[in-house]
Amino acid sequence: ITVKLIDNYGRIIKDLRLSVTPRCNLHCLYCHPLGWEQAEPPGTISVEDTRHFLQAMQMLGLESVRFTGGEPLVRKELPQMIAVAKELGIQDIAITTNGLLFARKAKELMNAGLKRINLSMDAVTPEVFKAMTRGGQVEKVWDAIETAWALGLHPVKINAVMIRGMNDDEVIPLASLSLDKPLEVRFLEYMHLDNSNPQLYQQRFIAGAETRARIEAHFGPLEKVENDPTAPARVYRIPGAVGTVGFINPVTEAFCSKCSRLRLTADKKLRPCLLTDLEMDIAWAFEAPNPVEALVDAILLATDRKPAFGNTLPTLRERVMVGIGG
Ligand code: GTP
Ligand code: 5AD
Repeated sequence: ITVKLIDNYGRIIKDLRLSVTPRCNLHCLYCHPLGWEQAEPPGTISVEDTRHFLQAMQMLGLESVRFTGGEPLVRKELPQMIAVAKELGIQDIAITTNGLLFARKAKELMNAGLKRINLSMDAVTPEVFKAMTRGGQVEKVWDAIETAWALGLHPVKINAVMIRGMNDDEVIPLASLSLDKPLEVRFLEYMHLDNSNPQLYQQRFIAGAETRARIEAHFGPLEKVENDPTAPARVYRIPGAVGTVGFINPVTEAFCSKCSRLRLTADKKLRPCLLTDLEMDIAWAFEAPNPVEALVDAILLATDRKPAFGNTLPTLRERVMVGIGG
């Protein structure tokens, strides 16, 4: 029997973000500080653990799973994990990736059951991309985009975190990608996850409304496109464009009231809210004699503790983004 997972505020939890590794092959300035955890620690979630967890979530009405990291493609068992999701009959199976390893692994991932891909690309200009990612080559992201199209993975979504003084001049080049390509180019508000240096954060923060105004000043008024109301992005079209542009504004337009997500970190902690440092260590449940049953209980407990509004930020940040998976 399947029941719906509903939290204390009436939100239906149907989307899982599952981080498969804390490792990443980039060190983006806003996400991955130098010196952050590099090894895959013992106790990292296994393929069998993934199966048990997905089974438990399915008993509670799971509709979609998104594999994240770190960088999910550095985890060599990712194809097996995707295959497990497919075998269990989960319809929406996605990854969020920096794309560096995608061209090489795409066929295997597709054969395993991957349906959708979101790619992080903060800039079109190679030098800007390189600076923001501390050494990344934007050409590899292009390879990923082209490979995804060629294999029929639609839609490809692009995530660009907007940071003043770094990539604010990339707004028009990024938005222009949607003109003749079937991409959804999304502009993300920079979230202050580590809570350090508030002045610097204020200087660097760009509200989604400002990004939108720059796009409209250049291309004219955007047309609204309907999309899943529980998704974080609001989607629009530049008149006449093939693709779309989207805005993810977690800072100025907190979307907590319609949040449908639960996160599991690679070290087996359930995190009911991205922006709240509240995690439940559920490693014990994976070791229980009947792990699926124990995991159902753990998931119910975590859901019970899902905060009403994530934006009431605690001051101490235990994890940075690379450890949560976005
Ligand atoms: P789809 O709508 O299924 O394509 O996925 P998505 O847009 O949720 O996934 P993606 O991994 O591309 O995330 C895009 C951005 O939305 C990231 O910066 C996430 O951190 C942010 N985001 C996703 N879920 C939440 C959330 O629950 N709270 C907040 N504040 N931000 C979120
Ligand atoms: N603020 C906003 N988005 C972020 N991401 C990583 N760190 C931050 C941050 N501090 C984005 C990545 C990726 C997505 C999962 O989260 O660019 O596309």
